[in-house]
Amino acid sequence: MIKVAPSILSADFARLGAEVEDIRRGGADYVHFDVMDGVFVPNLSIGIPVLKSLRKATDMFIDVHLMIERPVRYAAAFCDAGADLVNFHVEADLQEKILEAIRIVKEKGKKVGVTVKPKTPAEAILPYAALVDLVLVMTVEPGFGGQKFMQDQMPKVTQIREILDKIKPAVDLEVDGGIDAQTAPIAKSAGANILVAGSAVFKQQDRAAMIRAIREA
Ligand code: DX5
Ligand code: ZN
Repeated sequence: MIKVAPSILSADFARLGAEVEDIRRGGADYVHFDVMDGVFVPNLSIGIPVLKSLRKATDMFIDVHLMIERPVRYAAAFCDAGADLVNFHVEADLQEKILEAIRIVKEKGKKVGVTVKPKTPAEAILPYAALVDLVLVMTVEPGFGGQKFMQDQMPKVTQIREILDKIKPAVDLEVDGGIDAQTAPIAKSAGANILVAGSAVFKQQDRAAMIRAIREA
């Protein structure tokens, strides 16, 4: 079963509650919440206060993607603010600190994921594979919406799916960056089962049609 996770990075933040209600009615499975610190990636976005407000406005599953340095510092705070799943970049700290961040999220009773940037090899997930609920493979350099899908990441998606099938087959495999109705089938056939889409969904008037197109393409 394919899940679609619209990224609110491309939503109208002045109308965030209505934007999220629109994708909920449109059949979205998750809300993808992109957090940037201007250090791990060359951009800033939203953080804990916005997550707290959004938590009050929706009962949708919120998938938090932390593009921040040393995310262990904020792991508990994002859980307390209402995340359903917290994703950590494996490049964002030492392995022992990422393991600690994973432990914190699990103790909070939330789901947890690890994320890899385009230049990071599949093997980088090995220390975490048995512990997580989800692996996220970036199909753009993180930092901005609206970039071109990197098809050269597909062998890595397939390789990670194979690793997960050996270690823990229930782990979800999410892709993020440049997903639309044209690129979704490419990511699915490589092995992804959760598709993040920011600009493709939010630039459309009819979000429901685009969510359906991405899921069914
Ligand atoms: C990029 C973010 C993505 C972004 C995707 O750094 O992690 O979630 O919003 O946007 P699109 O779908 O426009 O590539
Ligand atoms: Zn993201």
